[in-house]
Amino acid sequence: MSQSSLSATATLEAGRQARAGQRGLWSSRWVFFLAATGSAVGLGNIWKFPYITGENGGGAFVLMYLGCILLIGIPLLMAEVMIGRRGRHNPAGSMAALAREAGASRHWRTLGWVAGLTGFLILSFYSVIAGWALAYVPALFGGQFTGITPQASEARFGAMLAEPGMLVLYGTLILTATLAIVGLGVRRGLEQSLRFMMPGLFVLLLGLVAYSAVSGGFLRAVEFLFVPDFSKLTATSVLVALGHAFFTLSLASGAMMTYGSYLPEGTSIARTALMVAVADTTVALLAGLAIFPLVFGNGLEPGSGPGLLFVTLPIAFGQMPLGMLVGGLFFVMLVIAALTSTISLLEPAIAWLTERYRTTRIKATLGCGAVLWVLSLGSVFSFNLWSEHTLFGRTFFDLLDKLTTNWLMPLGGLGIVLFVGWALNERLVREAMAMRSPVMFRVWWWLIRLVTPLCIVAVFLNLVGLL
Ligand code: TRP
Repeated sequence: MSQSSLSATATLEAGRQARAGQRGLWSSRWVFFLAATGSAVGLGNIWKFPYITGENGGGAFVLMYLGCILLIGIPLLMAEVMIGRRGRHNPAGSMAALAREAGASRHWRTLGWVAGLTGFLILSFYSVIAGWALAYVPALFGGQFTGITPQASEARFGAMLAEPGMLVLYGTLILTATLAIVGLGVRRGLEQSLRFMMPGLFVLLLGLVAYSAVSGGFLRAVEFLFVPDFSKLTATSVLVALGHAFFTLSLASGAMMTYGSYLPEGTSIARTALMVAVADTTVALLAGLAIFPLVFGNGLEPGSGPGLLFVTLPIAFGQMPLGMLVGGLFFVMLVIAALTSTISLLEPAIAWLTERYRTTRIKATLGCGAVLWVLSLGSVFSFNLWSEHTLFGRTFFDLLDKLTTNWLMPLGGLGIVLFVGWALNERLVREAMAMRSPVMFRVWWWLIRLVTPLCIVAVFLNLVGLL
């Protein structure tokens, strides 16, 4: 290596270390695992996965989703964490730093901005749904669901949606909590809320599955979830499965890159990413196993849409002993699971604003909060005042959801894998990944270079009828 490129490398390295020092790091690998799992596990697993599985016909969709997690989600998750740790910046900054190191175009960092914007847009509707969960907390503790019939539960959910004032109130509470946690900074805000909540949620879900297993519809639910009927699979369902793999692992939105940027050197990226993906998938499948027996046992419609969780679970809580308490706790945990996701949706934008424009964390947080709040009104009104105002037959909420999950994330993800696999060079990537097993590195490297991008392209070609 020539003298000048040696000193350029040394400068880059010194810059990274300085940034790592200034920005703070997770205190241990375990904390990173909790934070990344906290980001991944959320409404996506417990609210969204069951309802889109219901809408897309069950088993075959679940199989596609698992395939997407394995072939696309996990390799990309590893790549994103690697980019963050190597760049030690906000997503756009990290991508620019890596591009510089590899002598690639600076324009790759545009992907980092798209990612940050995606996360921001998701947050605007995610906070509204988390608000629904929050609204259910007092309702359950207050015993409003005791002995409720399936029809009454549906009606009650519908009545809640019809009232924009309440939805705005609860959505605002969620946003405010998110802004407060993020505004206080990474260490103080994030780590504390993570340590005990994830395990708690997991235990409650297991309990719910056990309850569902002995109630009526368990066998039908297992059959629905795990016996694939490919005749029910459409090109759009495959895209939904792909989009959800991105959504549930918090990919292509800056979250995992940002969290990776606080990851200490020397932690195994591969192993940690794998653990996150396993935990995330397990929670989604458990949520399905808790909800679908209730759907079938109570004669409800599996494809009824976003209300599925909110209609079914309260019926079970209304029947079981101590249901008020268990149900109330469940929704408390769900809100917290949602909050650990909302903070990861906001963090990239804040990291970008503070590092790029040198604004203070507080100012950046307040500015983002104002914009988010206005956007969130659009999602709230989609369920009542504006439910008739549609574009391409979709409400504002639907449009944002589909735009981010089915388009921005898969296409952004495609950009990121192309960046890692083709714009960077193998030596740099191998060094940044620091995988112990050379064989595993090869496997991952070829997944990233060929398999992952081809799978994403295939899903889109399939959609436009070319495959
Ligand atoms: N993965 C979270 C969930 O399943 C949601 C989430 C957090 C997210 N950060 C994200 C989704 C970034 C997309 C992008 O609930």
